[in-house]
Amino acid sequence: MKILVVGSGGREHALAWALARSARVEEVIVAPGNAGTDAENKVRNIAISADDINGLLQLVQMQNIDLTVIGPEAPLVAGIVDTFKAAGLRCFGPTAAGAQLEGSKAYTKEFLERHNIPTAGYRDFTDPEAALAYAQECSLPTVVKADGLAAGKGVIIANTRNEATAAVNLMMGDKAFGDAGNKVVIEDFLVGEEASFMAIIDGEDILPLATSQDHKARDEGDKGPNTGGMGAYSPAPVIDTAMAERVMQEVMQPTVEGLKKDGEHYTGFLYAGLMIGDDGVPKVLEFNCRMGDPETQPILFRLKTDLVDLIDAALDHNLSDTEAEWDPRPALGVVLASGGYPDSYNKGNAISGLDADSSDEHLKIFHAGTKEQDGKVLTNGGRVLCCVALGDTVADAQSQAYGLVDQVSWDKVYCRRDIGYRAVKRGSS
Ligand code: AMP
Ligand code: GLY
Repeated sequence: MKILVVGSGGREHALAWALARSARVEEVIVAPGNAGTDAENKVRNIAISADDINGLLQLVQMQNIDLTVIGPEAPLVAGIVDTFKAAGLRCFGPTAAGAQLEGSKAYTKEFLERHNIPTAGYRDFTDPEAALAYAQECSLPTVVKADGLAAGKGVIIANTRNEATAAVNLMMGDKAFGDAGNKVVIEDFLVGEEASFMAIIDGEDILPLATSQDHKARDEGDKGPNTGGMGAYSPAPVIDTAMAERVMQEVMQPTVEGLKKDGEHYTGFLYAGLMIGDDGVPKVLEFNCRMGDPETQPILFRLKTDLVDLIDAALDHNLSDTEAEWDPRPALGVVLASGGYPDSYNKGNAISGLDADSSDEHLKIFHAGTKEQDGKVLTNGGRVLCCVALGDTVADAQSQAYGLVDQVSWDKVYCRRDIGYRAVKRGSS
């Protein structure tokens, strides 16, 4: 069969790589892809943007593609699955209605409250004056969130009244995130350890994926500005078997049930960002209607089951009969970013050492912001690569991943040197 993967990041490289490993797959096309996807066995890129829904539809019809897998949130929120379904095509992801779980924070907060799913207390505002007044009286710290999609940047933690006021003004006055800031959510600050929980949903049944945890802050010790994610590992010891059971019962099942009650049979990947406090309650910080990036890279590196079979089972509403098998060894991925990310950075630097993973099947360099030009691979974004290693322990995976990192370089490459430190500490205590 022929599969299309939509997107161009590290997550899409890992998806395309995992799908291409299936004996059932003849070819994977990635639109628009990156230098890493194009170089992968059985995979090629076609230069159509992930947001060009009509262009992608034409591609699938012309190339007789059997299945489309959507990587990023924007086309899902814009309704790519609705368009493909209406054309009679198999497309894996939620409809625009389901993708609202990521597309609107205010919708999600109201949904969580209505279905009694644990989350932080909140208020939402379309009137800037009312939001500013609440910023003067809410408890501190507080969290100000733009309602719509803001490429992971629309969340500001305010420690003082001035910071809360500035955050509201930035979103609602300056429109720093465009229309995404027409509405804001101001929510209570939660304390605890963050964790991610991802699953495949078939409208009714839930197949949990291996657990994972990412590091969102740019700098070591989880300091510095928030990013899309600077590294991740799987499994995440913070989600032990008992906690996974709780997350299923208290978050995932009521969410899928709630969606069903609201008339939505959610199909696709669902990602819950959680804060687990001292009381052990898993509280929802956010939902994503897609896999996480970079979490997908270490998660899929551990997947032994054919990913095409899992996606087919979900599209055919057969997940209750399906199991996923995982490599028991931990995998850890370190993101190599362009110096300056997430603010301004250069593009077009030549990358060396990209074949450092070629001799060992426990190592893999997934590409994100890269492009091929005149036989060279150049940097083409903020997050450029994710170096992943499987190890006997998380400490071993960490040391092998950094061994790989140290063989790759370009001018002003940047990475954190402590990815996985919490899991390593737990493992050695
Ligand atoms: P979100 O995109 O909603 O997950 O927010 C991005 C990041 O902001 C999260 O990964 C958390 O680190 C932080 N965050 C969001 N909401 C809260 C909250 N209510 N309390 C504490 N931290 C939060
Ligand atoms: N790594 C976090 C995300 O994909 O949203």
